[in-house]
Amino acid sequence: MKRTKTPETFQWVQAPMAGGTTSTDLVVAVCEAGGIGWMGSGYQTPEAIRTQAKEVASNTSGKFGINLFVPEKRNEEVEEARKSLQSLYERAELAQPNLTSFENEYFQFHGKVKAICESSATYIGFTFGIPSNEILQQCRQAGKVIVGTATNEIEAQHWLQSGCEVLVLQGKEAGGHRGSHDPNASPNYAATTNALLQMIRPLTDLHLYVAGGIMSGKDAAMFYELGADGVQIGTAFLQAMESGLHPTAKGALAKRNKKTTWTKAFSGRWARGLQNEFMEKYKNHPHAAYPLQHELTVPIRKWAKQTGNAEWDAVWAGEGYERGEVSTASMLLQKWQKEFHDRTNRAYAE
Ligand SMILES: Cc1cc2nc3c(=O)[nH]c(=O)nc-3n(C[C@H](O)[C@H](O)[C@H](O)COP(=O)(O)O)c2cc1C
Repeated sequence: MKRTKTPETFQWVQAPMAGGTTSTDLVVAVCEAGGIGWMGSGYQTPEAIRTQAKEVASNTSGKFGINLFVPEKRNEEVEEARKSLQSLYERAELAQPNLTSFENEYFQFHGKVKAICESSATYIGFTFGIPSNEILQQCRQAGKVIVGTATNEIEAQHWLQSGCEVLVLQGKEAGGHRGSHDPNASPNYAATTNALLQMIRPLTDLHLYVAGGIMSGKDAAMFYELGADGVQIGTAFLQAMESGLHPTAKGALAKRNKKTTWTKAFSGRWARGLQNEFMEKYKNHPHAAYPLQHELTVPIRKWAKQTGNAEWDAVWAGEGYERGEVSTASMLLQKWQKEFHDRTNRAYAE
């Protein structure tokens, strides 16, 4: 997409957040307020994607996107990880979950891509890697705008070679899963959002959206000045009235009494969330590869939500979460846009 660098064309993107947060209400509210709403559909079935995409399209004429996790070959060994969670299953009287084979995950992924190609979503986004040329071609033929995710320069270069129209640069401050292409890439070496933008901006004229730690219009204005074409905001939408985040997690965020940290213990991939007992206890235990570890902990996280105990749930949140506000998505966007325009107009006037 050709860049048109003015404050008026700057994009306000609500980050895809898999696991129910990006409810139809949230996506629609963001689109209606002039932003770009995204469905985080990594955990949805093709049928659920079709249904939600239809709901979104019938409630807004705004542009929206649908995001998927790209499957990767993985070690299928789960017994050690399963054994280490056994006492928790017993304590909560939980049944052992069924796990998805790589073949099935891959088959499902194709079904999801097809569902998105047949939907009225404008954008299709990929996280955790780059899908095959065949899939990218399928998306282009369906007229979708392809959005990639990169967490470092090498990943950005790979996306630039494969061909995407927009690239999301995810810095270390970001909440939720790191979009790293290599599941074992240590977050200890992760770049900040600011550093990432300054590394990648000189390499391309593609639209670049920055993600990670953006909690206000002032933050967005700073990234605009550094050459971003838009901001992708996750954590600051978690407490929006329309967000589908579970009340147990919303309650934990509202307390503002914890630091965030990275963990692999919930899903087998690095993700940032509120530090809690589960992360601490299982930090050094064996973890299965993603998505097997995710599937092993699904019953535990469900039980934690139902019993209102956020200590055993994954409360994904970015470093800036203490600055989050409870409000409607449209009021949040209006406030950020005003702060942004106040800053950018002032910069022009000076
Ligand atoms: C609860 C939650 C779930 C997320 N799920 C996804 C996802 O499904 N796909 C994705 O590409 N990124 C996901 N992310 C990461 C966001 O896309 C984005 O990079 C991040 O929220 C930006 O940083 P911030 O949280 O500081 O705003 C998630 C983030 C959060 C907080």
